[in-house]
Amino acid sequence: MAQLWGGRFTKETDELVYRFNASIGFDQRFYEQDLKGSMAHVKMLSRQGILTETEEEQILAGLEGILTDIKAGTLPIDESCEDIHSFVESTLIDRIGDPGKKLHTGRSRNDQVALDMKLYIRDEIREVDGLLKELLGVILTIMEEHTKTYMPGFTHLQKAQPVTLAHHLGAYFEMFKRDRQRMGDIYKRMNFCPLGAGALAGTTYPLDREYTAELLGFDGPTLNSMDSVSDRDYLIEMLAAFSTIMMHLSRFSEEMILWNSNEYQFIELDDAYSTGSSIMPQKKNPDIAELVRGKTGRVYGALMSMLTTMKGIPLAYNKDMQEDKELVFDAIDTVKGCISLFGGMLATTRFRIEVMEKSAAHGFTNATDAADYLVNHGVPFRDAHGIVGRLVLTCIEKGIALDDLSLAEYQQISPVFEEDIYEAIRIRTCVNKRNIIGAPGEEAMQEVLRINRRYMEEQEEITE
Ligand code: ARG
Repeated sequence: MAQLWGGRFTKETDELVYRFNASIGFDQRFYEQDLKGSMAHVKMLSRQGILTETEEEQILAGLEGILTDIKAGTLPIDESCEDIHSFVESTLIDRIGDPGKKLHTGRSRNDQVALDMKLYIRDEIREVDGLLKELLGVILTIMEEHTKTYMPGFTHLQKAQPVTLAHHLGAYFEMFKRDRQRMGDIYKRMNFCPLGAGALAGTTYPLDREYTAELLGFDGPTLNSMDSVSDRDYLIEMLAAFSTIMMHLSRFSEEMILWNSNEYQFIELDDAYSTGSSIMPQKKNPDIAELVRGKTGRVYGALMSMLTTMKGIPLAYNKDMQEDKELVFDAIDTVKGCISLFGGMLATTRFRIEVMEKSAAHGFTNATDAADYLVNHGVPFRDAHGIVGRLVLTCIEKGIALDDLSLAEYQQISPVFEEDIYEAIRIRTCVNKRNIIGAPGEEAMQEVLRINRRYMEEQEEITE
């Protein structure tokens, strides 16, 4: 059992205690960040005259070697070490001897782990942002193809007013765009370097924290050493933002599941994204969408766990904080997997244009427009509402649409109706008259598509 702190102890740690305490099983995930952080630390120590240039060179070469070998798979991570930090340091000492023992000068594992986690999370936030951008690309392409695909818009899951597929998907475009903004905000707020905070109270060595921060691409050093080692706000913010991403994906999944059902038949999921039933030969199940919806719970759970873990912790570092890793890693894997798979599923989905249009035409989605027609001919809206309500009732009794009533039938209920009522309540007329920005009308939609296309071209991915 390789551990860094045997000096003051007289007994061996109990094996079970040792295992319970150890984090190597999961923190090896950020070995690269740990090594890069150590390299920056060593460069700074040498610049400050705390290490000699020769020591710097020896340690850096040792760390580079460890990085290369772990990556190449020739240096297996020894799980009997307590954590990744201990593994790297003991391997370094094995390989280069005494100079390796100076690596940890002016540093504690508390500021080290705070740094490693931040470096790791920065990379992951950038990746999630990139995946969201790809998903936005898929959505936008479908939107551009479907500005004339009419479908019912729903409230209370009841057909309400006609929209287009472009407009419906445009709602999700806005959601995932905000999700990207949240990634950028979190990145900016967390991007300060905790190294140099030591165990909790800084250090007596003359460290140049600005320099370390700069080497590692941070906007500067953190300003309070106690906060630096015990701040996990950025993880909570990230899990909250991830929960929102999952909530969006889950709503979208729910719609895909509904739309793919026999009752709707608005879409057909690709075979590659569906599964069969072991007993019912006719089945083609939307498992991927269901799993995305289901996995949302895991990510919400991680957020709740993290908030609960942090709520009673006195300043500064406490071991409870080690619990952040497995939760966060699982949430990251889940979110990344769900965004990618959902994007693939969406990109291969077949939209059944005729079924959507037919559904919009049946279900009185043009009833508001029939009332608006009367209003435009001087009938007060409340009266118009009543008149159209009676027309709808007649249609329901006959099992027809408003479009199928004869002019005589219209005029029997209100003499204001003329032949042009039919044009006024055509689904495409209803949609295209809604032409203010944000509405589904063709011109308004084209303007939004232009704005969103420009966003895709101009909106940089998050960089250091
Ligand atoms: N494995 C620990 C963690 O993840 C690293 C910090 C350990 N510090 C300490 N004083 N035991 O939080």
